[in-house]
Amino acid sequence: MKNIRKHASMVDYYQKNQFNPVPFAIENKKVWNELILNRKNLYERHLGIPFLTFKGKSVLEFGCNSGENSLVLADAGAKLTLVEPNGQALPRLEMLFDKFGLSQNIVSLEQCGIADYSSSKKFDIVLAEGFLFSLPNREEMIEKISKLLVPGGIGVISFNDRYGALVELIKRAVLWRACELKSVDPQDHESLEIAQTLFGYDFSKLQSTRPFEAWWKDMLVQPFIIDKYFWSFQELLPLLQVSGLETLSTSPKWILNGHFNWYKNRPEAKEINKRALSDWARVLPFIISGRKMDGTSAQPASDDVINAVAGLTKTISDYASDEARAGALDAISYPELFDAYLTGFDNENLERLSDDIRNIITALKTGNYNCLMVEYEKAQVLRSNWGAPYHYLSFVKT
Ligand SMILES: C[S@@+](CC[C@H](N)C(=O)[O-])C[C@H]1O[C@@H](n2cnc3c(N)ncnc32)[C@H](O)[C@@H]1O
Repeated sequence: MKNIRKHASMVDYYQKNQFNPVPFAIENKKVWNELILNRKNLYERHLGIPFLTFKGKSVLEFGCNSGENSLVLADAGAKLTLVEPNGQALPRLEMLFDKFGLSQNIVSLEQCGIADYSSSKKFDIVLAEGFLFSLPNREEMIEKISKLLVPGGIGVISFNDRYGALVELIKRAVLWRACELKSVDPQDHESLEIAQTLFGYDFSKLQSTRPFEAWWKDMLVQPFIIDKYFWSFQELLPLLQVSGLETLSTSPKWILNGHFNWYKNRPEAKEINKRALSDWARVLPFIISGRKMDGTSAQPASDDVINAVAGLTKTISDYASDEARAGALDAISYPELFDAYLTGFDNENLERLSDDIRNIITALKTGNYNCLMVEYEKAQVLRSNWGAPYHYLSFVKT
């Protein structure tokens, strides 16, 4: 790749690109009302946190960006301590709180990163959405969040899942290969045009609140959408446990255990996580494809299948990254074990998805731009599947 640009951190990437990753025009009443309903649904129905919980509570939010989501919590009565390292986001944040008449709900607004933030105070609720996974010391930051919570306090984080990201990562690799064959830098405007040709139509059919360009910048060419910044429930749940945090819920919701149980059957935190991970292995087809499934009857994927998916994600990510190495393309191969797993469900979507992934991997290697574009157009199922790449996790301080 020509013209490689390095970014020390996500903040650096956003600042150099003067890019707002979550542009919500909440000055428009309809957009504001939609945002409230979406956030309420996320917190109440998915993460197990009724909005009334926020009323009068101390909420510490890291990475609040320009504060649109924070404003929803202020509207629900939260007393906010907001921590955001990107100074470019703060004028809009202050303007919005002023405009909505909610400035008095900001207890403090600090311009720094989570690692540099210090407080002797403990909070009822701590939020770190949309960035924690990109930090070199992310495990320590989970511990830090735990220490900042009062006993019984609630935390929420979000992350890009290495299994759920696979399908979008393949789309990313198609773009990077198309750019390579056209001698275009993936970060340049011409790359956005190629992306529009490849994905514009399919993206327009999604109910995305983001414009296409924001998806291109924040997913297809973002330097932090690579393997080393992906996380997983397999890593996170044990980490919560050693940090004195008990798993509460997730979004998307996929944890099945606890359903149909009498409330006096109280599993230990360790058992909750063990059962959750077993459920996760049952719903792997959902994680990969993003399509709903009945996980209750499915067999859990074996560790070998799970490792094969992780390996595929890693090789594709190695290719579609600024650190792309010569030979990275040759290293991508479709694991037979994964193919056998996807085709073993008697499910047409999964069978055709498997075929499409195999064909696209072959097309990536042909070295012909037109052939790649045509093959991608033909990959109807891969095109219409988006995986479940982005996950929220809520937990309680014990
Ligand atoms: C993708 S945006 C998410 C914004 C908002 N939290 C949301 O979920 O809609 C990530 C935000 O995290 C901020 N951020 C990045 N690194 C951070 C760090 N080390 N500490 C705190 N915030 C950080 C970025 O500046 C940006 O505002």
